[in-house]
Amino acid sequence: MILGVNVDHVATVRQARRTFEPDPAVAAALAILGGADGITIHLREDRRHAQDRDVRLLRETVPTELNLEMAATKEMVAIAIKIKPDMVTLVPEKRQELTTEGGLDVAGQKKHMKETVKKLHAAGIPVSLFINPQAVDIAVSREIGADMIEIHTGLYSDSKGRRKEKELHRVIEAVKTAAKLDLTANAGHGLNYYNVKPIAAIEGIRGLYIGHSIVSRAVLVGMERAVREMKELIKG
Ligand code: PXP
Repeated sequence: MILGVNVDHVATVRQARRTFEPDPAVAAALAILGGADGITIHLREDRRHAQDRDVRLLRETVPTELNLEMAATKEMVAIAIKIKPDMVTLVPEKRQELTTEGGLDVAGQKKHMKETVKKLHAAGIPVSLFINPQAVDIAVSREIGADMIEIHTGLYSDSKGRRKEKELHRVIEAVKTAAKLDLTANAGHGLNYYNVKPIAAIEGIRGLYIGHSIVSRAVLVGMERAVREMKELIKG
């Protein structure tokens, strides 16, 4: 089970003062020393946290998997083609949202998504699609040529009791559906030190992508330790 650490919120702290610290590239280096298998950065259209310079710097300094999260827009596709991350994760993006609120509507935007995947593939960049745990989205992701999917665990993370059990079951079923279609499945969003274990125990998940909780712990105990503690929890 690989762990991709999302360093967006290191940039959020920096942007609170529009200064030079803390630097997401330094955080990424420490995360890798702590055992991160990859680094994720989400370059948003409004540049509220990560800046273009962060993505360029991470491309130069991350020796493991650099995953660029982005909306399927013309601007972002051009940036990805120029920077060549190790993979792109396409996500829906709304200006007003606090964080990525739901998965992509791949069925509703099939043509556009297919064209975006094609353009990124032409530049040699593998593409993952961030989708809700539902069969139709998995099937469409396969159909339009995605290399991987990332299953949105937000509803699982936000719910409690029986509802949480139900949402966990949906993620388990989604991983099985992806396996049947020979599609690699990752998972992420809202995962933390207290809710990650049942997701990490699902057979067939390639990796987890976690940001806010690791950065939050890193503020208190340091990035290396925060990543090491998460790696310990998710190991098989
Ligand atoms: N995966 C995707 C596709 C995301 O958009 C995000 C949030 O940026 C994450 C994972 C990480 O979510 P969190 O910060 O809640 O761990």
